[in-house]
Amino acid sequence: MSNEHVAIAIDGPAASGKSTLARELSQRLGLIMVNSGAMYRAVTWQVLRKGIDPFDSAAVVAELGQMKLDCGVEGLASTIRVDGVDPGDELRSEAVNRRVSTVAAIPEVRERLVALQRRYLEVGNVVMEGRDIGSVVFPETPYKIYIDADATVRAQRRVEMGEVDAVEERDREDSSRKTAPLTVPLGAAVLDTSGHTIESGVAAAIELLEGQGLKTEAIRGR
Ligand code: DC
Repeated sequence: MSNEHVAIAIDGPAASGKSTLARELSQRLGLIMVNSGAMYRAVTWQVLRKGIDPFDSAAVVAELGQMKLDCGVEGLASTIRVDGVDPGDELRSEAVNRRVSTVAAIPEVRERLVALQRRYLEVGNVVMEGRDIGSVVFPETPYKIYIDADATVRAQRRVEMGEVDAVEERDREDSSRKTAPLTVPLGAAVLDTSGHTIESGVAAAIELLEGQGLKTEAIRGR
């Protein structure tokens, strides 16, 4: 690792419970929580806003070159602004849900966002959730969890959130792309949250991380 800060990597398919787990770990252990999906969503949002075809990789890459991306932290949570604008709830719109996997498959998009993601570790201890955090962003961290849940449970979670999101289709695209596909990272502990409550899922995750050598008492507030 580039410095003494700790990175916890949480990967898994859509609606598997990554954000909930990352938020809980962030609050309990005082870690910066980075939602890497929001970064791919923000680029997608800007591409759609500019009327660019997300399937036209060359046009997306050209727009990426113009785009100012500011990644910061507010409280303990990551923030993102595109050309000075916070996209807010629009990051989770149906249009963005539908096209984010297409934009996220473009290698140049990934290269730029991975570099921004790694910079968070210079700021403090980090829990980062996504699809390639344990495999590509922080492959050297010993603290990795791959979280999963039944497809029906995941689809139901999105409905409960009031979102229109074809999670299985996104997972298929995210798992089959050439660059940094969704995969169980080497050394990751696998946690299925289907039968868990938030509390029991977080407890199980902390136990797995401690099994990987994480000293939760030592990093709290560091
Ligand atoms: O975590 P999420 O559902 O908000 O992520 C949205 C999309 O972003 C996801 O379908 C694929 C892409 N993504 C990615 O390719 N790599 C990441 N580390 C995080 C998200």
